[in-house]
Amino acid sequence: MSTSEYSVILGVGSFVPSKVIDNQELSKKVDTSDEWIQSRTGIRQRHFAGDEESTSDLALGAARNAISNAGIDSDLIDLVVVATITPDMAFPSTACQLQHKLGLGKVASFDLEAACSGFLYALDVADALLASGRYRHALVVGAEKMSSIMDWSDRTTCVLFGDGAGAVVLGRKGQGPQLLGFQSGADGANPSLLYQPAGGSKTPASMNSIENREHFLRMNGREIFKSAVRVMEMASRQLLAAHDIDPNDVDHVIPHQANVRIVESLANRLELPIDKFFCNLERHGNTSAASIPLALDEATRLGIFKPGQLGLMVAFGAGLTWSATLVRF
Ligand code: ACO
Repeated sequence: MSTSEYSVILGVGSFVPSKVIDNQELSKKVDTSDEWIQSRTGIRQRHFAGDEESTSDLALGAARNAISNAGIDSDLIDLVVVATITPDMAFPSTACQLQHKLGLGKVASFDLEAACSGFLYALDVADALLASGRYRHALVVGAEKMSSIMDWSDRTTCVLFGDGAGAVVLGRKGQGPQLLGFQSGADGANPSLLYQPAGGSKTPASMNSIENREHFLRMNGREIFKSAVRVMEMASRQLLAAHDIDPNDVDHVIPHQANVRIVESLANRLELPIDKFFCNLERHGNTSAASIPLALDEATRLGIFKPGQLGLMVAFGAGLTWSATLVRF
């Protein structure tokens, strides 16, 4: 088997916890309605992990599926990267927990944090490490227990998120979609647009921080909405231009699954028909770093991607961060 010029997705998998909460159910707990949530976001339901389930448990389910679909012996994996903003704990990393739970060898394992762009950032990094020749097979995971940082007293955010995980096994040899290129960036000028104020070194946990509910996610929804559309268009156009590809030649777009109105605005700006955009956010809500691999796995299982077709994965997240990946199926 010859070595590919590009990293290859050898297998993809996902996992969501069994508990499902639809908008009706949510509106018993929060002052909201199915009509408001659906019309503003497109979300109908989301999965939530149980008290005993942590992010590494969700990652484990997705990783097992990805490894099984890759059809390789897990002993061949020599790199584990987990993208998450809801790690099991501040340290050690969720990737180390996952490595142990999977029974992998003592291979390099680390977390990467780029919020909802995290999975594509992790692909970008893992691709570079594989291309260097120092690693052969990477397990790349996006996993989140967003319910652990959601503020149930803030209806503007708690209706948006869900829990889940998605994973891929990457290699340089073998059959599968090829990763043709990446475009990642960040702008750290306005961290408070979307952040978790306390729990880090700036504001360590204290009675005060807990009383002020600073351990929960906070967001300026309107500003994030505008930035999301702008940076996803920018990253998409820059990546396509770098590869001399016309947007119309893209067969499938797998966008970050935050809000259907953001996806529609992106489609308008890229002047692409909406049916090229794969969306499953109505069933999962925004699962942050898990959203793109969860969508990639579902679309793969539905047989939506045909060999030779061109795909564009594009995400934005807290930071602000953004990332786009070009894939040949
Ligand atoms: N149910 C009912 N009413 C609500 C709710 C709710 N859940 N939330 C807000 N409202 C009310 C507000 O109080 C406001 O009422 P008012 O006009 O009487 O003051 C009204 O609805 C409109 O509120 P807006 O905030 O202006 O609503 P908007 O149309 O901007 O939609 C939303 C809000 C859905 C959050 C939108 O701004 C959005 O999707 N932004 C992007 C969010 C996003 O994608 N975040 C993820 C980032 S990725 C990452 O890194 C995690």
